[in-house]
Amino acid sequence: MGNIRMDKYLADMGLGTRSEVKKLLKKGCVCVNGETEKKPERKVDPKKDQVTVDGVSVSYEEYEYYMLNKPQGVVSATEDRMQKTVLDCVDSKKRKDLFPVGRLDKDTEGLLLITNDGDLAHKLLAPGKHVDKVYFVRLAKPLEEDKVQLLENGVDIGEKALTLPAKIEICQEDRMACRITIREGKFHQIKRMFLAADNEVVFLKRLSMGTLELDETLVPGQYRVLTEEEIERLKTNAQ
Ligand code: URA
Repeated sequence: MGNIRMDKYLADMGLGTRSEVKKLLKKGCVCVNGETEKKPERKVDPKKDQVTVDGVSVSYEEYEYYMLNKPQGVVSATEDRMQKTVLDCVDSKKRKDLFPVGRLDKDTEGLLLITNDGDLAHKLLAPGKHVDKVYFVRLAKPLEEDKVQLLENGVDIGEKALTLPAKIEICQEDRMACRITIREGKFHQIKRMFLAADNEVVFLKRLSMGTLELDETLVPGQYRVLTEEEIERLKTNAQ
């Protein structure tokens, strides 16, 4: 990461728009290494220079990584004029270039990674990467053994090819709930797979994506920052 203009540094770290942070600078609220700095074009080294705003230290982070337990009723988009988006759920976000890594349907709950790290998103999402995604599914009818076999081997959901092999674990004695692991991410994939197996998804929740597992202490709508370890594992395993 090279040197960055002062106004970009402050705007990226959520202190306001470029014109708002220019006002902060003009007012003398910003110090670099203990000296008041008023020039928006001043270049700072995020690794070495100490930046404070009204005496509070502001360190620069190039990337943000959040895990959201997506609630139902929220759309997986960066903005929407009518509906609440997954980004609206993350109050403490600083950067304006955050996006959800993949989409969950409006009525799907569970793990959603929100970041501005485009390289990582690409590694997790690009077709051919085949990152495992695990979902918990409640069904309208019991899932019989022949349908488990069918879904695991691959079903016709109207795409060019059958779905890739999947793994199913039945979760309840009445066979009305299961965990399914898939390695693709086609539009409405899980719902379409169960429709192709003569059943219907009535509740869907994503539990994991690659090495990243939903933190079950997060109730739907809550989020947290990823740990360093979670970020490293994602980066090294999603190659
Ligand atoms: N499959 C679906 O059908 N919906 C989702 O939200 C995710 C996977």
